[in-house]
Amino acid sequence: MKTKRENKKSDKALLQEIEQYWNEHIHDLEIAENPVGSQGFFQDLENYRFEKLHYLPNLVDFNAWSGKKVLEVGCGVGIDLVRFAQGGARVTGIDLADKSIELAKKNFEFHSLSARLQKGNGEQLDFPDNAFDCVYAHGVIQYTANDQALIDEIYRVLKPGASAIMMVYNRHSWLNFLSRTLKVKMEHTDAPVLKQYSRREFSSLLKTFSKVNLVTERFPVRSRLQKGLKAVFFNNLFVPVYNLIPKFVTRRTGWHLMAFAKK
Ligand SMILES: C[S@@+](CC[C@H](N)C(=O)[O-])C[C@H]1O[C@@H](n2cnc3c(N)ncnc32)[C@H](O)[C@@H]1O
Repeated sequence: MKTKRENKKSDKALLQEIEQYWNEHIHDLEIAENPVGSQGFFQDLENYRFEKLHYLPNLVDFNAWSGKKVLEVGCGVGIDLVRFAQGGARVTGIDLADKSIELAKKNFEFHSLSARLQKGNGEQLDFPDNAFDCVYAHGVIQYTANDQALIDEIYRVLKPGASAIMMVYNRHSWLNFLSRTLKVKMEHTDAPVLKQYSRREFSSLLKTFSKVNLVTERFPVRSRLQKGLKAVFFNNLFVPVYNLIPKFVTRRTGWHLMAFAKK
């Protein structure tokens, strides 16, 4: 069995691997038609994101934080953080990957918006206790070395009564079922860490929060990434048929397990 010290050491090495992976695999990069870092590039990523996650602006009110302090942990190139800033929030974004922060800065420049953007590790946030009105972490907890440490840090930097909005992948989802049946590779399965959670596992990581509401979302939408016969089956049969099934039947099979939690 590893000692606490050895575990700490291996977590550090793992975080270095995670950092390197995300510097080399900016999320959704393959969808962009315009050169990386151009205005068109950010537009491509934003269009793709809100086509895929069309429900997100209804679920997360990006305009609800005007004048408030919002932190995004693992902000990537800052697509969602721009929305918070457009809604008037005073935004801070951190990401383990320098490349993400470099691109997020450009993204904010193109929008003529200001933000505090810095490289950082969500497991050891460089902010005082009780500093933020909202902390957002979308698709990050599942990729870090120590998920509980990252959630505990989110909790620590939130003001009492403030909100955290987090998304992890749902172990019991339509996407898992489909990828197992059709043998389709899911995104970022080559990342050093990629976890999926049941509702119970995710709830257990969030037990320090006073109130937690879990919502499953992200149902099948037509894919521009997959090609060939499987894509034809997916786009023309699976997507329309799955979405015909009433949501009260499929609701818990959404790929994204989102938590709205209060400190
Ligand atoms: C799948 S991308 C998601 C990016 C963005 N949040 C989104 O929804 O598009 C995962 C991001 O989490 C970042 N990340 C992973 N572990 C992290 C950590 N411990 N601290 C900060 N960022 C981390 C990665 O660098 C990467 O940018």
